[in-house]
Amino acid sequence: MSEATFADLGRIVVIVPTYNERENLPLITARVRAAVPEAHVLVADDNSPDGTGTIADDLAAGDDHVHVMHRRGKEGLGAAYLAGFDWALENGFDVVVEMDADGSHQPEQLPRLLDALRDADLVLGSRWVPGGSVVNWPKSREVLSRGGSLYTRLMLGVPMRDATGGYRAFRADTLRKLDLVGVESAGYCFQVELGWRAVRAGMRVREVPIEFVERELGDSKMNQRIVAEALWRVTLWGAQDKARRARRLLAGKRSGGAGW
Ligand code: GDD
Ligand code: MN
Repeated sequence: MSEATFADLGRIVVIVPTYNERENLPLITARVRAAVPEAHVLVADDNSPDGTGTIADDLAAGDDHVHVMHRRGKEGLGAAYLAGFDWALENGFDVVVEMDADGSHQPEQLPRLLDALRDADLVLGSRWVPGGSVVNWPKSREVLSRGGSLYTRLMLGVPMRDATGGYRAFRADTLRKLDLVGVESAGYCFQVELGWRAVRAGMRVREVPIEFVERELGDSKMNQRIVAEALWRVTLWGAQDKARRARRLLAGKRSGGAGW
């Protein structure tokens, strides 16, 4: 039984961003509520044409731990999460979890992330650490994900093995310190940006293995524009970071200081 085992962490909310997830939403909500009964669920729906928002309202009407944020239209995963974070902080939650609606992030593995958060500021569910895995993913997606994480590590100098993953647990204090107003990414690159900000801020970022199961219902919203955004942003951030380091080094030399 996992009941009340996370009371020491405070109030927990799982944000589930949705765009056309009508078949998945009731399933994922029920699984979260069963796996960690004290956790709340916030559905952040981008006015899905398939009626996901109405289904979310029905779920919320029958469960005081389920909440809905209706957004005006499809503005990307990053924007939906930023709005969800604001709501979570305004409503006094202490732990904020990101979870896809489609079952890829198994609610039954949430206790693993929460356990790790006890001595971390941000926990990443990771497919690419020992013990992590993907089920039913086409080879092309695996190559894209592994390649994206490798490129991110090289460009930004971050240690994260799964830099793009979207199954994460934040302390509310972590979000407060991350300067969310300055976040630039619209799409899935948002995940890279937040991880990078946390590492740069000197926060304790821990990865725990997860089994990522490809969705069985509905369609992925991943597209070339999302990949392109991640590629150009990571490349730009990497270049800016190198320029910053070089400037610091030169300034340190001129003033006779040690640089860093
Ligand atoms: N509100 C909102 N607005 N939700 C969105 C949007 C949007 O514009 N785009 C996607 N979502 C929701 C989906 O409905 C789903 O719940 C979740 O975000 C993930 O979308 P998928 O389309 O299923 O993503 P994926 O499986 O292809 O990608 C997974 O891997 C990426 C790369 O590792 C996810 O885990 C991503 O978070 C991850 O970045
Ligand atoms: Mn998915």
